[in-house]
Amino acid sequence: MITLIAGARPNFMKIAPLVRAIRLANRNQQRSPIQYRLVHTGQHYDDRLSKIFFEELELPEPDVNLGAGSGTQAEQTARIMIEFEKDLLQHPSDLVIVVGDVNSTMACTIVSKKLNTKVAHVEGGIRSFDMTMPEEINRIVTDALADYFFTTSQVANDNLIRTGIKAQQIFFVGNTMIDSLKFSLDRLKKPSIWDQLSLRKLEYFVLTLHRPANVDDLETLSDLLQVIEESVPDRLIVFPVHPRTKKNFDRIADKFTNIKGIEPLSYFEFVFLIRHAMGVVTDSGGVQEETTVLQIPCVTLRANTERPETVTEGTNILIGDDQRKLRQALSDMRSQKWKKGKIPELWDGHAGERIVSALYQIALDK
Ligand code: UD1
Repeated sequence: MITLIAGARPNFMKIAPLVRAIRLANRNQQRSPIQYRLVHTGQHYDDRLSKIFFEELELPEPDVNLGAGSGTQAEQTARIMIEFEKDLLQHPSDLVIVVGDVNSTMACTIVSKKLNTKVAHVEGGIRSFDMTMPEEINRIVTDALADYFFTTSQVANDNLIRTGIKAQQIFFVGNTMIDSLKFSLDRLKKPSIWDQLSLRKLEYFVLTLHRPANVDDLETLSDLLQVIEESVPDRLIVFPVHPRTKKNFDRIADKFTNIKGIEPLSYFEFVFLIRHAMGVVTDSGGVQEETTVLQIPCVTLRANTERPETVTEGTNILIGDDQRKLRQALSDMRSQKWKKGKIPELWDGHAGERIVSALYQIALDK
């Protein structure tokens, strides 16, 4: 029995291709079926951050929702641990698979290992080396404890080897996020704001912001938005607002004319929006990867990234909080002066199948 963990929005895109690949393999009668349970920790609970992703990505209803909800870092992590411990005791598993870098990833890894259960980490090994990010702490703790690593890049493999992980524990499978991206491409949905804002292909920007460093302080957020609006005064900037960001954005939204704050979009709507954008400004990890594969210019408002191949190979640049670089980048995007980029190795839409092959290998090795 395998237990799959998903808790927050970016987890759903990473787990869905794996569920699909397991179901496909189970239809192939030659191998014994992989039994699995899907656990939703409830870290994200709004329909727009959770339910819609299950529907679009054809994820089955979770076997259980732990209802962890929001809170401080410790409160949320603790609640996930308490509830998942009960669940795992009731449903012992041979392997727990965690994805990404959210609090659910780390919390469920700690619980599993303390119950002597093996853990595999999808997207293991990536590092920003920025200890102010809760996600970096989640990555480090998860990777210190996990038994198997399904990695997205050679850089991730090297990071793991450097910490003493053995090559046999690492499976370089590619990027399940990109499996979901490819799955979405012939299912894209035009969001309702497309007509409401009279958007036209390659004539608008997309902005996403949710990192505490960018959104929790009102003045920082306001300054950032002002620079963006001033840099491309003749273009709309479509801004799907994360719930974390909403609290502050609502207080200053009236100051901006061209920045259009909208509700969070569904996955198929969001990919539609970035696919046709002139450029994307973000502080998200996943969006850096999606824009690289779609070959859309991307500016990341961080000084570091745990996904360096989006910069060295893809269409992403890092500008930290440098306002001059932000102005220049937006102006370059506006005049379509941007590197073309190439697609990183194994970001090809087949990572889920490779993970399933690795799961059979792990089972055989036991
Ligand atoms: C979490 C992840 C982050 C990921 C992001 C994607 C951690 C440490 N962070 O950050 O890595 O990129 O999700 O969205 O795990 N809220 C709602 N509805 C919800 C969920 C949250 O309104 O369904 C509100 C909460 O009240 C909270 C805020 O959004 O104030 C932040 O939620 P939280 O889960 O703490 O972290 P995220 O910022 O979403």
